[in-house]
Amino acid sequence: MSAEADKNRVIIFDTTLRDGEQSPGAAMNLEEKLRLAGVLEELGVDVIEAGFPVSSAGDFKAVNEIAKKVRNSTVCGLARAARGDIERAAEAIAPAARKRIHTFLSTSPLHMKYKLQKEPEQVLQAVWDAVTFARNLCDDVEWSAEDGSRSEPDFLCRCVEAAIKAGARTINIPDTVGYTTPDEYGALFKMLAGRVPNADQAIFSVHCHNDLGLGVANSLAGVINGARQVECTINGLGERAGNAALEEVVMALKVRHDRMPFTTGIRTENITRASRLVSQITGFPVQPNKAIVGANAFAHESGVHQDGMIKNRQTYEIMTPESVGLTNSSLKLGKLSGRNAFRTKLRELGYDLGDNALEEAFKRFKDLADRKRDIFDDDLIALVDDEMANAAARIRFVGLEVYAGSKGPQKATLELQIDGKNHTVTSNGNGPVDATFNAIKQLVPHEATLSLYQVHAVTKGTDAQAEVTVRLEESGRTTNGQGADPDTLVASARAYINALTKLLVKREKSTPGDMTLISDSTAAE
Ligand code: KIV
Ligand code: ZN
Repeated sequence: MSAEADKNRVIIFDTTLRDGEQSPGAAMNLEEKLRLAGVLEELGVDVIEAGFPVSSAGDFKAVNEIAKKVRNSTVCGLARAARGDIERAAEAIAPAARKRIHTFLSTSPLHMKYKLQKEPEQVLQAVWDAVTFARNLCDDVEWSAEDGSRSEPDFLCRCVEAAIKAGARTINIPDTVGYTTPDEYGALFKMLAGRVPNADQAIFSVHCHNDLGLGVANSLAGVINGARQVECTINGLGERAGNAALEEVVMALKVRHDRMPFTTGIRTENITRASRLVSQITGFPVQPNKAIVGANAFAHESGVHQDGMIKNRQTYEIMTPESVGLTNSSLKLGKLSGRNAFRTKLRELGYDLGDNALEEAFKRFKDLADRKRDIFDDDLIALVDDEMANAAARIRFVGLEVYAGSKGPQKATLELQIDGKNHTVTSNGNGPVDATFNAIKQLVPHEATLSLYQVHAVTKGTDAQAEVTVRLEESGRTTNGQGADPDTLVASARAYINALTKLLVKREKSTPGDMTLISDSTAAE
């Protein structure tokens, strides 16, 4: 890379697994975090902030497992300015090929007075101590001035200078509460570059929350004014109104390279896949008109627009759907296709399944090919994601027969395999979905309440696969489950079972030994 190109290279630091996961209801389990980390690595993310290791044993384990798995991206663990936090982060990221400790401390008058209850001089000392300590454990240290955008410039400069002197290679100035504006935030980076004597020894980073809907605009303003790292999340997931969306920042830099001559290492064709996975895992739908990844982002409805598109796509399209990985390609596989062709297609889509998972996915593909005329890449993605989410589960869906319609009573006869044994029950309900869920409850008794039930069509047409998300809550524990099938009720059953399986794993972790799934009095074989 030439010196000029290098100077304009923007590091993409993804914090979906840390700041994103802090969104209420967005908690992910270990297997989901590992899958997402793999997809982020394939996307070309430079730094993956994998979690906050000291916050829980689960977070520690997730960061540690991600550190073992990811080879190309730097794996980062968050830590407050405290020895215990920093040690735990260092321990969690130890197996990583490339690792970073990210330590932070508030620098705004409001946060120092009310949150930290510390004098500025104490904060300054703590910045020095934290970065020095972190640097003894890891070469790559990032320091963040929490609430940096509302900090007093003189004090911020002193903290930044101290952090760099203590060895921080990256200095992040978050707009923690999403309050700043592009001109103000841009000027802040210019000011720091001009006034901090050792500013040239660190990379400056933006981290913008979206409370006023300015997260992406503020991030770009920071880059234009010298920042060379952007902290962001897939789909803009994050605390409150979220963080700046990775896909929007990256595509803005790519499409408007004429105005913003910066590059990233992101393989943009993988964006749609990452977006879908985050939405699927968290159960947070992407709004249809969301930039880049919304279902309507490349849809042209009005006649005038369609006419223009037919004459020249550029009339109404500033980037191609293919450039963000949105393809409509119909799978050139049919009922008679073999495993090899199927495996090759999955590889093309970025999936490398083990033999057992491939066999299961192949069976479902054959079943789908029997029922659906056109099979799109999106169908395959939904099917394989569903299969991966349920692989090795103790409860497996076997079959469902439903009596629905206006004559009632609606009932569902459900067959599940639980710990290798098949069981069947019939339940009534207020509609077929309720009857199906009651049947699951009869086979696997539990007290969880259903807090979200959401259906989304994977592709167009009445034979489209339904992708269902179910959220269950029990004693403060929340899990999201997903299921996909051309039959909405089957997809619903799969999603419920997936959420329930995760709940049982969580329950087992807090009450070891409590893993009886079947109630003798209710289960009929
Ligand atoms: O928003 C924020 O200030 C943060 C820091 C921990 C970096 O997320
Ligand atoms: Zn944040």
